[in-house]
Amino acid sequence: MRVLGIESSCDETAAAVVTSEGEVLSDVVASQVAVHAPYGGVVPELASRAHVENVVPVIERALAEAGGLDTIDAVAVTNGPGLVGALLVGLSAAKGVAFARGLPLVGVDHLIGHLFAVYLRRPGEAGPAPALPYVALLVSGGHTAIYEVSAPGVAHVLGQTRDDAAGEAFDKVAKLLGLGYPGGPLVDRLAAAGDPRAIELPVPMSSRRTLDFSFSGLKTAVARHVREHGVPEDPADLCAAFQARVVRVLVDKSVHACVTRGIPRLVLGGGVAANRGLRARAAEVCAARGVALFVPPIASCTDNAAMIAYAGALRLAQGARDGLDLAAYSRTPDLARGKFPKRA
Ligand code: KG4
Ligand code: ZN
Repeated sequence: MRVLGIESSCDETAAAVVTSEGEVLSDVVASQVAVHAPYGGVVPELASRAHVENVVPVIERALAEAGGLDTIDAVAVTNGPGLVGALLVGLSAAKGVAFARGLPLVGVDHLIGHLFAVYLRRPGEAGPAPALPYVALLVSGGHTAIYEVSAPGVAHVLGQTRDDAAGEAFDKVAKLLGLGYPGGPLVDRLAAAGDPRAIELPVPMSSRRTLDFSFSGLKTAVARHVREHGVPEDPADLCAAFQARVVRVLVDKSVHACVTRGIPRLVLGGGVAANRGLRARAAEVCAARGVALFVPPIASCTDNAAMIAYAGALRLAQGARDGLDLAAYSRTPDLARGKFPKRA
């Protein structure tokens, strides 16, 4: 079965065609980074307008690259969580295609899309895939949480941020330092040249008694440092100190979740999974604790429609069909918060 996936929950307009086995036949992403860069963050109304402009050309290109609309068996679309005005653009387009061709339509939770993206098979990238269950650390500009992924399309939250998402913290620190937007890759690059021990910063919510996170205190500590000492001429040490704190708490809690749940498999996802410091520490700690680490290619970690098509295929295989009255939602009702794992 070939599924057309459509994603427009935040600042990427994306369409892709994927088989039910996860083979990626096309994967088109129109980024809005240039639209939002002057504001240092995503502006919802501008995002909706850019989706309106991009959605038809992006879908047409994804279909053309995969062999045309006639080869499609079903349509999957992100219907939440996300910016409602942005979601509605992709949702309307998906309904239009499904109605015009009489194709089955399924809605996909954006987070479920991220959590199963590790099974996507891109040309020339046939990395190993984890067996179920696995623990997943999802770190992006909008989300930071640890999940237990237990069955196709099924996951529950073990811990999550109580304030900022990790990517949001990277972006805000980059803004404080006048580095540009999005800040994550810029902080990552500078951190590689800095000494993480040169500046004292707090480690946010480092206790293992909870798998929740908090990043706003760390961000405030960076702001205080800048207020007291000014923006450093060379911000490498400050970037390294900030990044090391974030990475340590993300990796240590994720691996702790694997150990206490007895699940020796960890999957990374979300845009922050591109961070070199995060990848390096995850590899190191996983190796030391006997946990197999799975890091999908960046194109599968950041927002894309291939993951939506694949998660849609999982729902279709389970018999799910949504009607044309499929609605958008801004919060996730499906991923009910799980109980904290017992300490080992
Ligand atoms: O998943 P994503 O593309 O979009 C959503 O937020 O849904 O993630 C974007 C986030 C931004 O906050 C960006 O600064 C961060 O991921 N990011 C990084 C890196 N690359 C992207 N953060 C740290 N290090 C990176 N190398
Ligand atoms: Zn996302």
